[in-house]
Amino acid sequence: MNTKNLRDLLLDQLADMYYAEKQLLKALPKVAKAANHEGLRAAIEDHLDETGAHAQMLEGVFRNLGETPKAKKCHAILGILKEGEEMMDEYKGSPALDAVIIAAAQKVEHYEITTYGCLLEWAMQLDNPSAAAVFEAILDQEKETDTELTKLAREVMHESAAEDAAGGTMAVEEESEDHSTLALSTSR
Ligand SMILES: [Fe+2]
Ligand SMILES: [Fe+2]
Repeated sequence: MNTKNLRDLLLDQLADMYYAEKQLLKALPKVAKAANHEGLRAAIEDHLDETGAHAQMLEGVFRNLGETPKAKKCHAILGILKEGEEMMDEYKGSPALDAVIIAAAQKVEHYEITTYGCLLEWAMQLDNPSAAAVFEAILDQEKETDTELTKLAREVMHESAAEDAAGGTMAVEEESEDHSTLALSTSR
């Protein structure tokens, strides 16, 4: 008979998320750099700081359970990141690049929300309120990030539609001030 129990499952998924958060720490700086929209870049950079804190909070949960922090390869996050990277390459220089970045980031957030939601539930069932409190705190930040990304998705689309409506006029106005902006506008 398989003797694995709910505590094993919690430890397994904890190790999965520990791996995922560490992968995100590596990937997010590149994603932030690729974003055109300033608010989007700032949101990703803010979430990068939170991601570092999440990894540390998970280390605390391992210790709370009397275990050494251990990462388990998370195929899901690697897949989401790989697909996001491919899409970013395909849309490089396009006006839809920020939408691509937001979609990939939301896929990551939803994966995190699902797993932290399960971890929270299991910690409560195992009567471990301190681990539950950590998972809940992280879960709240992941949900806030997801909400922020939805708002940004609308803003980004709105602004790119406004730019399209303004056409070349906008590019000419910006020419004397900022050549990098012009380069972006004309590449669209
Ligand atoms: Fe996270
Ligand atoms: Fe996240």
